[in-house]
Amino acid sequence: MTKNELKQWVASLPKVELHLHIEGSLEPELMMALADKHQIALPYANIEEVKQAYNFEDLQSFLDLYYFGASVLKDEDDFYQLMWNYLLKCKEDNVVHVEIMFDPQTHTERGIGFDVFMQGFKRAMQQAEQEWGQSCLLIMSFLRHLTEQSAIQTLESAKPYLNDIIAVGLDSAELGNPPEKFTQVFEMAKELGLKRVAHAGEEGPADYVWGALKALDVHRIDHGVRSIEDPKLIEFLIQSQHPLTVCPLSNTKLKVFSHMQEHNVLQLLDLGLMATINADDPSYFGGYLNDNFFAIIDHLPIQKHQLHQLVINSFNASFMPAEQKRKWLEKIDSY
Ligand code: ADE
Ligand code: ZN
Repeated sequence: MTKNELKQWVASLPKVELHLHIEGSLEPELMMALADKHQIALPYANIEEVKQAYNFEDLQSFLDLYYFGASVLKDEDDFYQLMWNYLLKCKEDNVVHVEIMFDPQTHTERGIGFDVFMQGFKRAMQQAEQEWGQSCLLIMSFLRHLTEQSAIQTLESAKPYLNDIIAVGLDSAELGNPPEKFTQVFEMAKELGLKRVAHAGEEGPADYVWGALKALDVHRIDHGVRSIEDPKLIEFLIQSQHPLTVCPLSNTKLKVFSHMQEHNVLQLLDLGLMATINADDPSYFGGYLNDNFFAIIDHLPIQKHQLHQLVINSFNASFMPAEQKRKWLEKIDSY
């Protein structure tokens, strides 16, 4: 198959996305429109200037813009529109099931409560499910640059909404904020019946992946690409089959890898780890899920059976009910 044929084929497959920050899907057009609506001054004259600002040195330089961008989200309708626009992309990219992260503290710190953003998110999710059968789950992520006490308060505020939240996660500035800082709140989340994921081994060392596995008892590792630096960890991940939600465009934009040709996702897959492909923050990193597949097709010597495995892994790594999973896997087998 040529690269173009591989791209067409993967685009046509039903897919799952497991690592997507809804605040990272805020497109410059919506950012400018909401800034206008709420009379918020942005340091950009037009959409081109916003896009030019998306040149990052590292994770922190991205996070600074990402949190600033999120400040235009104020009322329920803004959160509805944000979610709705992303779910339309899912339809376009054939993403049949998605597990979407949101950062409550980014909003509660500005005085915007769970009642506002949860209602907006849910309205869009229900509409997409009714209109084209979109399947989606929500993951509530704690910001690791804040204290564990703040994460505990956030979990407390989320209690009336736990029926709509499948898991807790951990994101934001990794270096200096190891998983062990959040042992207690993850234990509380586990007792409440929530599943657990955490960003680890993106900028942080392989030790942080061990920390997420041991101290937080996570089901999946978000990113995890630096696991490759620790042979014992790689051995463990092959045995345990903890999924890694890898984000190729994110990793090159944030200079985790200097070029897509250097990316290790194929190496991880061929070693037998449960690697998956995801977009992370599509509006900031230059593409949604299909674009991430296209980027690895363009720059890595990937073959059809490896793409197939990546797609199957995402279904298996998801938190969707077993029966739904079985039906989709059967369908994909026929592609
Ligand atoms: N928040 C949004 N995207 C993130 C990433 N790639 N790493 C850590 N925190 C994030
Ligand atoms: Zn992420």
